[in-house]
Amino acid sequence: MSETTVDDLETGAMTQTAAVLRDSADDMQAQNDAFTGTVGEIKAANPRMTCRNVNVYYDEKHAIQDVSLDVGKNEVISMIGPSGCGKSTFLRCLNRMNDTIDICRVTGEIKLDGQDIYDKRLDVVPLRAQVGMVFQKPNPFPKSIYDNIAYGPRIHGLAEDKDEMDEIVESSLIRAGLWKEVRDRLDQPGTGLSGGQQQRLCIARTIAVSPEVILMDEPCSALDPIATAIIEELIDELRENFTIAIVTHSMQQAARVSQRTAYFHLGKLIEVGNTDDIFTNPSHKLTEDYITGRFG
Ligand SMILES: Nc1ncnc2c1ncn2[C@@H]1O[C@H](COP(=O)(O)OP(=O)(O)OP(=O)(O)O)[C@@H](O)[C@H]1O
Ligand SMILES: [Mg+2]
Repeated sequence: MSETTVDDLETGAMTQTAAVLRDSADDMQAQNDAFTGTVGEIKAANPRMTCRNVNVYYDEKHAIQDVSLDVGKNEVISMIGPSGCGKSTFLRCLNRMNDTIDICRVTGEIKLDGQDIYDKRLDVVPLRAQVGMVFQKPNPFPKSIYDNIAYGPRIHGLAEDKDEMDEIVESSLIRAGLWKEVRDRLDQPGTGLSGGQQQRLCIARTIAVSPEVILMDEPCSALDPIATAIIEELIDELRENFTIAIVTHSMQQAARVSQRTAYFHLGKLIEVGNTDDIFTNPSHKLTEDYITGRFG
């Protein structure tokens, strides 16, 4: 019999690890298949957005499956879950951003303050001002800092004159915590700011049109810990005036910024509840496996 080498042992270990991962993936798929409904309270005491039986398809792919969830006034709700589980897809439903994807089809009901946002007569331009979005990668327009903020208010006719526009620009930058850093360089390009400043500029741009809801898709994933801390503090302050839904891969971030947390797995909303409960005492096995780092 030939001698066992280190390579043999490593190969054996890798095969074993792969087998364990495969078994646990099969097990999680089985648990997902056996899913009968979201655990926890999908309703908010004071709902701003109500989503009922939402399904999203990319051609044949059923990316969101029968999700019902409220987003409450003045709350931050986090959406967490493994990559590909549908967090961004669901978030994009909330301001009809999925309309821009040809193969995407959304069914079910989504209301903002009681109004169906998928009503065929509804104009999506004002909707996207009411439900603003901040993306993973800061995306300032190739314009001055001032014009980045003034862009939306101009389109929506929110300012009567230059003084009013100046006021909107200033107050938006103050609320986004950026004013002091940029007040002397408002005519310089937004793209010349640091990554963290650009993300706050994008938040200021979203705030400038007085939205009701702000959607954030991994807003800090391109930022360093200091810039992240500034944005997290800002999210907490913004909650006073806005409703915020945030997708994040950082469970620490979800725990720090949100009052409610929704856990998605393979297109289904597995569990939703108070953030503290989700992280300390999850009810569903899939949630527990995810938050204890067993997969994801
Ligand atoms: N434009 C698209 N066309 C086709 N399929 C898509 C499209 N966008 C997303 N999908 C599919 O829908 C599913 C959900 O994707 P989604 O981007 O919503 O996941 P996610 O939870 O945001 O993942 P991540 O954490 O990696 O950002 C995935 O299987 C993905 O491949
Ligand atoms: Mg995503």
